[in-house]
Amino acid sequence: MKICCIGAGYVGGPTMAMIANKCHDIEVAVVDLNEERIAAWNSPSLPIYEPGLQEIVEERRGKNLFFSSEVKKYIKDADVIFISVGTPTKSYGIGAGQAAELGYVEGCARMIAEVCEGPKIVIEKSTVPVRTAEVIKSVFTGYDKGHLFEILSNPEFLAEGTAITDLDNPDRVLIGGDSTETGKKAVQTVVDIYNRWVPRENIITTNVWSSELSKLVANAFLAQRVSSINAISAVCEASGADVDEVANAIGKDSRIGPKFLKSSVGFGGSCFQKDILNLVYLCEHFGLADVAEYWHQVIKINEYQRKRFTRKIIHSLYNTLKGKRIAVLGFAFKKDTNDTRESAAIYICRDFIEEGADIAVYDPQVDAEEIKGLTSEKVEVCGSAAEAVAGAHAVLVLTEWDEFKTLDYTALYESMVKPAHIFDGRNILDLAELEKIGFNAFGIGKA
Ligand code: UDX
Ligand code: UDX
Repeated sequence: MKICCIGAGYVGGPTMAMIANKCHDIEVAVVDLNEERIAAWNSPSLPIYEPGLQEIVEERRGKNLFFSSEVKKYIKDADVIFISVGTPTKSYGIGAGQAAELGYVEGCARMIAEVCEGPKIVIEKSTVPVRTAEVIKSVFTGYDKGHLFEILSNPEFLAEGTAITDLDNPDRVLIGGDSTETGKKAVQTVVDIYNRWVPRENIITTNVWSSELSKLVANAFLAQRVSSINAISAVCEASGADVDEVANAIGKDSRIGPKFLKSSVGFGGSCFQKDILNLVYLCEHFGLADVAEYWHQVIKINEYQRKRFTRKIIHSLYNTLKGKRIAVLGFAFKKDTNDTRESAAIYICRDFIEEGADIAVYDPQVDAEEIKGLTSEKVEVCGSAAEAVAGAHAVLVLTEWDEFKTLDYTALYESMVKPAHIFDGRNILDLAELEKIGFNAFGIGKA
């Protein structure tokens, strides 16, 4: 069997590496239009950072795992084609700011229809609005090749930073397909691939629409938990309660559970905002205005939380940041990834630049050029936390990298302008200890 995946990104790359790692007899090709990205996948320094990824790529690359920009050749040869290209929020025209940009997915469908002559299973891996399979199908029909393809939905639930363990041991694999004979056969083919390492009871099969919608709903529910606890963090600061204590207390209720209750400066990442906006757009499309508004609040609270954090800092620094050096530790949207999409750090840095602050950023994995591109050329990108913090008026911890938990804060404090402030946007530091050193310490949801 031959598999081809279009899109060598955070989802396509790790997912295909895992399939190749588990199924040595299957030839897996990951293709991408971006030649630079493919070159990086074929080099010692992969384009994405993900713990454990390098090892399995090095183990399988050149054996049954290939990265190539010869998109058409591999599509033509494959039995199973995964579409894993981006579906960002549309920035123009109808649905701007909410609907998903489906141009890349349509482009893939057209290319598949153009080059393929034999039967194939085509799988939507990208997160797509409900009924996208219909779009793909109608493209195939337009090329008079509808009969050649079975279209399935197989959304990916991996979280960045834990992609390899998530793929190795997923809570569930979801496969949506038609209930026709050929549809069922195609679903079974994909079930058999995952079943090489995922227990059958963890592989769920549904109709295509349920599968597409479930991905949006899973992300909406997860993001809603973060926005719920973040909303409560404001109440904690106002009332003297401590948000970590509240989260711990409510998380012990097995009906609520402990996960996704860490208050923060706001969720980031490529999925939460995009998928909720997509859900909101879908609700409006179906005339469900109240439902749309309900989910939209999850995003509004996220924006509120970022703003609340920046206002608090400006206030603590005597309402002026002009000429002050602010050290930012962490720029990725969470630890263990070099991904910065929708990272709270982008918005916070931009706000402070507008206030006239001098920003110095240190992140262990994110590229300097990327940080500057997302903020300003004037931002200083440093090679260590100590370098960023020296001479600063304030330190902001914006990503929960493990190395920030164990820094020598006494030494950092000594290198700063007094009174020195520290703001923990991720609630990972011991604020009482930091206050003992002399810091003016503030954490989300702490009185
Ligand atoms: C994925 C899914 O696409 C998205 O829908 C989901 O919600 C999150 O995960 P991700 O893998 O993170 O996105 O995106 P990205 O890292 O941008 O990778 C997409 C890749 O597809 C890029 O490398 C891009 O060059 C490639 N691409 C895009 C193509 O090869 N062809 C295209 O037509 C468009
Ligand atoms: C998410 C989903 O978890 C995954 O299943 C889906 O496939 C893609 O979207 P990802 O965006 O990679 O994955 O990361 P996730 O761990 O969900 O974190 C998203 C954001 O929420 C991060 O910025 C994170 O820091 C934040 N977060 C998460 C919190 O602020 N508090 C929490 O308790 C959990």
